[in-house]
Amino acid sequence: MTATQRWRELVETEHAQSDLKRGEIPPPQDHWRPFAQNFRADPHRTDDPLVNRLLQEVEPQHTVMDVGAGGGRLALPLALRCAKMVAVEPSSSMCQVLREQATDSGVDNVSLVEAQWEEAQVEAVDIILCAHVLYVVAGIEDFVRKMEANAREKVLIVLFQSPPQSQIYPLWQMVHVEERIPLPSLPQFREVLEQLGVDANVEMLEQLPQRGFEDREQALDQLTDRLYLAPGSSQLAKLEQILPDILQETDSGFIVKGSQPLQPALVSWRPQAN
Ligand SMILES: C[S@@+](CC[C@H](N)C(=O)[O-])C[C@H]1O[C@@H](n2cnc3c(N)ncnc32)[C@H](O)[C@@H]1O
Repeated sequence: MTATQRWRELVETEHAQSDLKRGEIPPPQDHWRPFAQNFRADPHRTDDPLVNRLLQEVEPQHTVMDVGAGGGRLALPLALRCAKMVAVEPSSSMCQVLREQATDSGVDNVSLVEAQWEEAQVEAVDIILCAHVLYVVAGIEDFVRKMEANAREKVLIVLFQSPPQSQIYPLWQMVHVEERIPLPSLPQFREVLEQLGVDANVEMLEQLPQRGFEDREQALDQLTDRLYLAPGSSQLAKLEQILPDILQETDSGFIVKGSQPLQPALVSWRPQAN
C-alpha cells in the first residue's frame, strides 16, 4: 500500500468509526459550530509563537492564501503583514467568526472564499498556508497538488506530530471499550511527501500549552460531543461516572489527566513547477 493509500485508509476508517458511534443521528451540517468561537483571536497579538514564526515567512508585497482558515486565527495576523489575504473556508460558523473578527480589528485586505479547497475557484498567490486541516482530508495527493499549483513561492503546512484528538483517545477504551482509530498526522505526512517527490523542510515548533476545558461542565459537554454519546446512553453514564477521576485541574481550567501537550511542526517547500 502506498503512503497516499494508507493516508486515505486512516481518514476513512476513523470517519467510519465516528459514523458508527453516531448511530441514527446524522453528522452535523457544520461540524465546527460548537467550537468556532475557540478560533477567534486578536490579530494584533504579539505573544503567539506560531503567528510570530509564520510572520517571518511573509513580506509586505506578498499575496497569501490560507486554506481552511477557520476563524482567522492565523489568516488575520498575516493579513496585517501582507498585501492581500485570501481565506478559503467551508464552515459557515467559522466564516462568521472570521468576518466579525476582521471587521472588529479593522483588517480590510481579506477576501473569503466559502468553499472546500477541492472545489474552490481561486487565483494563484505567492504563499499558501494550510494549518491543522490535512488530518481529515482523504484525497491528500490532489489536495497537496492543488496547493502547489496555486502557490508561486511557498507552501506552508502546519500540523501536529500526533492527531489533534489523541489526548482523548484513551477515553475511547474507557467509554466505548474499543481503541480509537487514529487520524494521520506528521509522520504519515512525511511519507506522503516522500511518495510525491516533495523535498520539504520540517521544523518542529514550540509545544502548545494544554488547551483543555474551562470547567467541568464544558468538559462533559465537549467530551460527550467528541465521543459521540447519545443522551440517556450507558456510555454517557459511564463518562459521567469517570469524569471526576479523569480530569486534572490546571491554572486555566481542566485537562484530561496524563495527556501530553501537542507538538506542532511547520512543513515548507517551494513548489517545483514554479
Ligand atoms: C482545526 S481548524 C483550523 C483552522 C485554522 N487553520 C487554524 O489553524 O486556526 C480546521 C479548519 O479546516 C477546515 N476544513 C476542513 N476540511 C477542509 C477542506 N476540504 N477545505 C478547506 N477547509 C477545510 C474546517 O472547516 C476548519 O475550519
